[in-house]
Amino acid sequence: MSGRGSNLEALLRALGPGAPARVVLALSNRSDAGALDRAAQHAVQGEVLPDPSDAADWLARLERHRVDLLVLAGYLKLVPPEVVARYRGRIVNVHPALLPAFGGKGMYGHRVHEAVLASGARESGATVHLVDEVYDRGAILAQARVPVLPGDDAERLAARVLEAEHRLLPAVVLAAAAAGHPVPLPEVVESQP
Ligand code: GRF
Repeated sequence: MSGRGSNLEALLRALGPGAPARVVLALSNRSDAGALDRAAQHAVQGEVLPDPSDAADWLARLERHRVDLLVLAGYLKLVPPEVVARYRGRIVNVHPALLPAFGGKGMYGHRVHEAVLASGARESGATVHLVDEVYDRGAILAQARVPVLPGDDAERLAARVLEAEHRLLPAVVLAAAAAGHPVPLPEVVESQP
């Protein structure tokens, strides 16, 4: 992850004692990422990638911690292709829109929500998908839809989508733990406020 870490927090809470999976490592390309503090609060090892394009370094860290599933939550850079190849089918990303719409390079943060609002779409949502070599292109595993409401600005819409992400991402990880690999889940329609 690169920043705030609220999705990591949701995962840490969902994967507490007795859960069928646990967070073993929080990797960030930024030493000031809030996500690293959240990991520390849950006694989870946090590490900083000095060079996020260094595939050998990624692989050494992932192997050292025996990582089965790699979860990208707010990680804005491309994962090195060697890492994608080694963990193919075992890397998921959460995106704050209903892919394949409003995704791709440069579509992150408020830009996503501003584009949704500008399009006049009546709904948006969260998507969890498998990661491959291209931004936001891998197979979709799960989506949660939320309404776009009158008076929404990017901030309000982002907050509504983020709440959906916090439910959807742990659900995908728990289902992956049960199945032994990431699996598609039924679409969720979040109830209206
Ligand atoms: C989320 O909106 C996620 O969809 C996107 O980046 C944001 C990360 O938020 N990929 P956080 O760091 O988990 O709070």
